Amino acid sequence: MIIDFHSHILPGIDDGSPDISCTEELLREEMRQGVGCICATPHFYASHVSVHDFLVRREEAFVRTRHMCAAKGLAVPILCGAEVYYFPGMGEADKLPELTLAGSDVLLLEMPFAQWTDAMVQEIRKILYRQHLTVVLAHLERYFPFQKKKGPWEEILDLPVIVQLNAGCVFERKKYKFALKMLASDLPVVLGSDCHNMDGRKPNLEEGRALLAKKAGWEAIDAADTEAARLLARIPKLP
Ligand SMILES: [Fe+2]
Repeated sequence: MIIDFHSHILPGIDDGSPDISCTEELLREEMRQGVGCICATPHFYASHVSVHDFLVRREEAFVRTRHMCAAKGLAVPILCGAEVYYFPGMGEADKLPELTLAGSDVLLLEMPFAQWTDAMVQEIRKILYRQHLTVVLAHLERYFPFQKKKGPWEEILDLPVIVQLNAGCVFERKKYKFALKMLASDLPVVLGSDCHNMDGRKPNLEEGRALLAKKAGWEAIDAADTEAARLLARIPKLP
């Protein structure tokens, strides 16, 4: 099954889908492309919103989406998570587990678009070993250009983290090459569209997967599907 591990399909909660009609279009397009399960991962910024308020807003957006799906006969499973932006102290933040994917231990972490530091390495260690969460690094291909000093980057990738790649990486030569390198590595990889809308950031897993498979082989894409399914199997109650 094709799983979209990263998307902004919920209406009116972040810079993704602005309203329920855009959400409907996004879902129809995901289904047309053969996506069988969508992780809804709106942005969470600890500096802007409390965990409580975020979860209330996400639930409202999710309920509206579910009602629309029921009314229009759209039957694709949607799992609620978050794309949690890095913040100092997150390794000890007791509410962090509330931001995981659908009650599992899986946390989609967005790192800063800047040089990574030793403090970030320590924070991720705490998330893994004190909070016992599974860290999925969102769109890893987007941070690479900022890592002039490779130490922290290498230390983080030596930890038992999962790499999430955006399907859109295939449209930029350097990111495409980087993604192929990741798919050929021993690191576990999952794929996402990171779709926001039907204009500049559309669902694109169909095209992205095909172009990745062209160079990396379908077995690499199958391995990513298997990894995503393995993570979803940790959700206590799948819909
Ligand atoms: Fe995103």
